[in-house]
Amino acid sequence: MKPSPAPAAPEPTDPPATTTAEADDAATTGADRSASPSPSPSSPSSRVTLRSDLRASIPDGLIALAVTAAVFALLYARIKAKTSSTVTVMPFMADAGGFWMYFLSQAFGWAALLWAWTTVVLGLLLSGPRPARLPLSAQRLERLHRTTSLNTIALIIGHALFFAAELVRHDTSGWFSRLWTAFVESFVPGGYDSGTGQIAIPVGQAALYLAIPLGLLFYVRHRIGPKTWRVLHRFVIVVYVLSVWHTLLYGTNVWYDGWFRTSVWLLQLPIAALLLARLLRPARRSERLSGPGAGTGSRAVWGLRLGGRLVVAGVVVALLAVIVSGRDGGRTVPPADTTSTHNHN
Ligand code: HEM
Repeated sequence: MKPSPAPAAPEPTDPPATTTAEADDAATTGADRSASPSPSPSSPSSRVTLRSDLRASIPDGLIALAVTAAVFALLYARIKAKTSSTVTVMPFMADAGGFWMYFLSQAFGWAALLWAWTTVVLGLLLSGPRPARLPLSAQRLERLHRTTSLNTIALIIGHALFFAAELVRHDTSGWFSRLWTAFVESFVPGGYDSGTGQIAIPVGQAALYLAIPLGLLFYVRHRIGPKTWRVLHRFVIVVYVLSVWHTLLYGTNVWYDGWFRTSVWLLQLPIAALLLARLLRPARRSERLSGPGAGTGSRAVWGLRLGGRLVVAGVVVALLAVIVSGRDGGRTVPPADTTSTHNHN
């Protein structure tokens, strides 16, 4: 689509929300479906602060910790039983007790991915078509979206911190040097220079470093403007894509072909389908694709929106092709005799 030389027309303000749920949603989220850009000091929106959301995140956070503990127990038992592919990839980890922090880091990683999946689904249900029979009100859904987002960030930090802690534990140099090396390898892009990790670790770091501002800017949306917040928050889907990419590239429990790796791919199908539905039937009327120049912005904006929808439709088709063909980038499982050393690269 050729961009129009005419300056982009400002997006028309959406008509006021029509249902109570939508009104609640607009009031609490900054989803700003109503005409008023800045809510009055007494509106529910002004009562939502980072502090109140952190408090509200506790129950959800406790569930996340319980899930992490359960995954850790499972991973640990598999290492001890010698059925874990982590040990096939890195035979020196067969001593489970010697690397428990690494396995705990893996467990935090899985919980982070599960919470990221959940929060993206909730976000797409808020900004796209919502099933009529959903048992949660928009307000409740939206609060859950915010608390699961905060917990996702906390779980990613836990994942990276335990990875760093294991590096510290196995380093025999002086304290300052160990802490510095572990910090650089875990948190500084380019600091980890071994094998696939050279790409996979910066991809994970990018997800973490983007998740923090794109998630937390909500709490300063009145300062930056609700529209700026909304536009920036859309890019949070990039965080999710980076997280999945990082996992499939570097997770040793999904290193080889098999049902578990296929399941991780399969779980991306509902996200892609919901994203497509959200783009085709956005909750905000001003985002609908009604035709070039039909009052929804310039031709360039219209072209971008159409392009976005086509790309996501292509992703759905590609995911189906990967799942059906089984060609999902998994390595071939090595023969049972693993006396040779496999590198994590
Ligand atoms: C500073 C950022 C990050 C660092 C340093 C990091 C580090 C690592 C490392 C070293 C592994 C390999 C573990 C193995 O042997 O399996 C790994 C795997 C993994 N990471 Fe990350 N990661 C980061 C960000 C993320 C993010 C943002 C997510 C998801 C939200 C994530 C989820 C996972 C998962 C699910 C695995 C697979 C673990 C397994 O196979 O058991 N990581 N990460």
